[in-house]
Amino acid sequence: MGRKWLMASALMLTVSLVVAARWQAPSPDDFAAVKAKEDCRDCHRAVVDRYAQSAHAGLACSQCHAGSLTHQEADDPAKVLPVVDFRIESCASCHRFQAETYLMDEPGTAGLYGGTPANPHEHPKTKDFPLYNKIVAGHGFTKEYNEDRSHKFVLRDHIDIKRPKNAACLNCKATPVAYYWGRTWKGIKLDENASWEEVIARIPKEVQDYGASCTHCHDPHSTQLRIINKALQAAIAERGVNPYWAEKNAKSFAEADRQQKEILLCAQCHVEYVCGPGADKKTRFVFSWRKVRDLDAFYREQFGYQQDWVHAIIGEPLIKSQHPETETFWESKYERAGASCVTCHMPKVKVNGRLLTSHWLTSPLKYLDRFVQGKPLGAYPCGECHSVPPTVLRAQVLRVQRHVDEVQKRVQQA
Ligand code: HEC
Ligand code: HEC
Ligand code: HEC
Ligand code: HEC
Ligand code: HEC
Ligand code: HEC
Ligand code: HEC
Repeated sequence: MGRKWLMASALMLTVSLVVAARWQAPSPDDFAAVKAKEDCRDCHRAVVDRYAQSAHAGLACSQCHAGSLTHQEADDPAKVLPVVDFRIESCASCHRFQAETYLMDEPGTAGLYGGTPANPHEHPKTKDFPLYNKIVAGHGFTKEYNEDRSHKFVLRDHIDIKRPKNAACLNCKATPVAYYWGRTWKGIKLDENASWEEVIARIPKEVQDYGASCTHCHDPHSTQLRIINKALQAAIAERGVNPYWAEKNAKSFAEADRQQKEILLCAQCHVEYVCGPGADKKTRFVFSWRKVRDLDAFYREQFGYQQDWVHAIIGEPLIKSQHPETETFWESKYERAGASCVTCHMPKVKVNGRLLTSHWLTSPLKYLDRFVQGKPLGAYPCGECHSVPPTVLRAQVLRVQRHVDEVQKRVQQA
């Protein structure tokens, strides 16, 4: 027993040393001996079987779960748990390109509108829409509402903003919250009534900038694409993956085709939703999963129209819609042409002779500009369908945007 314990601690030391060497790829030999000792199937059959079929099958569980062997050997394994790691670093040691591009940030405006501010506090939306605070008078968004920026700051910008916050918001800002939502995590029940401050206090400091990490879209055991957002899963169970396209409307993520899956990854966050206390002070976390034209009837029927807030000037409850990128994409020419969000926002780029997926989720115009300038990460994702040069297409995009902006300004005045 003493010898066994000694060996286990020696192995544990190796494990922690390797985990400490964050950005260095561990040598495969280091873990071969560890892997040979691991025997987890008796107690974790589903995970182990899924894992055995995956591209990760060659890795030791301990490569992501430090402390697994001590856990396995413990009299009561439930009391000696291994590490569960939601940090990007736990993938970055082997997938450096994806991790580095995911954390890319290039402040500046690619086109004429919006853009990626270096400091969002210096780019309030009221700069572009001076009447915004009047249009949503009385809503929390009048306290502070800024231009968005890179995924590198998803959680940071949420923490720093002055608006009231609630735990449900964190489903789109922090991967462990979305993953454990509805369950108990670090001693707290994660649901609509959880305290935002208490949940934030449990998120490790080093992930408090990006918050949302790799496993929001990738199952670490099967390496397959997945969705973890419970509100999206509930919406799909009720209405399918695409309620506006009968032939494509599969009943679950697993049954969806490639195009729909790629849209659903982003639909975990880039949708219209209801979250936090409504006009009636009741808390909810629901994806309407409907086109704007169908929202009014749905909210009336489902929530008596109390889902959002009461307008301070007209004194009536109204809909405050968020960022329905997915819903506006439905029924578009692009959707019909077979494109997904990934087609334009995550182009393939050549890295040391291998085609890899850029994880820099930014304006496709930035890829176009780099492509024209011959810079790394330049890509022309539009070239799959358009035969015109990128500069021509770029000018066309700006023409369309100028038109949309004029319409928005007219609507704002109306
Ligand atoms: C004798 C049974 C047993 C064995 C063997 C075992 N585990 Fe566990 N494991 C448990 C129990 C019990 C829990 C806690 C309850 C739960 O979360 O299901 C647990 C939890 C975990 C968790 C979740 C920890 C958390 O904080 O939620 C991980 C990860 C884990 N085990 C990995 C492993 C790995 C890797 C191995 C093999 C090297 C292994 N286990 C071997 C019984 C076992
Ligand atoms: C590439 C990293 C990685 C590897 C390798 C890995 N895991 Fe995990 N594991 C995770 C992450 C991340 C989670 C958190 C839950 C999730 O994202 O699915 C997790 C969660 C778990 C859980 C808890 C499940 C739950 O729902 O709370 C168990 C049990 C587990 N792993 C067992 C294993 C076993 C056994 C192996 C080896 C056969 C293994 N893991 C290999 C990354 C990994
Ligand atoms: C110790 C090294 C290592 C770590 C850590 C690791 N991976 Fe991998 N991963 C691999 C290897 C090896 C492959 C298979 C070869 C390849 O595609 O490069 C792979 C493949 C993948 C693939 C492609 C699967 C396919 O079918 O093409 C995805 C996605 C992936 N990993 C995601 C992750 C995520 C997410 C994490 C962190 C939770 C992670 N990996 C952590 C080594 C690792
Ligand atoms: C976990 C939630 C989540 C997921 C999943 C997600 N996003 Fe985001 N995304 C955000 C948030 C939050 C922001 C704003 C971040 C900020 O301003 O700090 C954002 C910002 C962006 C931006 C603006 C970036 C910039 O540089 O201004 C683009 C483009 C984008 N996301 C595209 C996508 C695409 C495409 C997908 C799917 C492949 C996706 N996102 C998946 C939450 C998410
Ligand atoms: C918003 C969803 C999303 C997030 C978050 C995400 N990925 Fe991916 N990832 C994808 C998509 C989509 C692909 C392309 C899959 C394909 O073509 O089969 C991909 C592909 C990959 C691959 C396969 C090789 C390649 O480049 O095509 C690896 C490895 C990978 N991702 C690792 C990561 C790591 C590491 C992180 C965290 C830094 C991460 N991913 C975060 C959506 C995501
Ligand atoms: C045909 C290519 C294409 C497809 C498909 C596409 N987008 Fe975009 N997206 C763009 C372009 C072009 C812009 C405008 C960028 C600019 O103005 O600089 C944009 C802008 C955005 C922005 C705002 C970025 C910012 O800086 O504020 C987000 C968020 C976004 N897209 C998410 C998505 C999501 C989610 C999907 C899938 C439902 C999707 N996109 C599908 C091309 C595409
Ligand atoms: C999957 C195929 C596909 C991809 C990829 C694609 N497009 Fe398109 N694009 C289309 C289709 C289809 C139309 C509609 C043509 C029509 O109506 O005749 C279109 C039309 C356009 C128009 C004209 C819109 C108008 O109303 O005048 C612009 C501008 C445009 N695309 C820009 C882009 C940009 C920029 C990208 C890359 C970021 C891109 N497209 C990627 C298929 C695609």
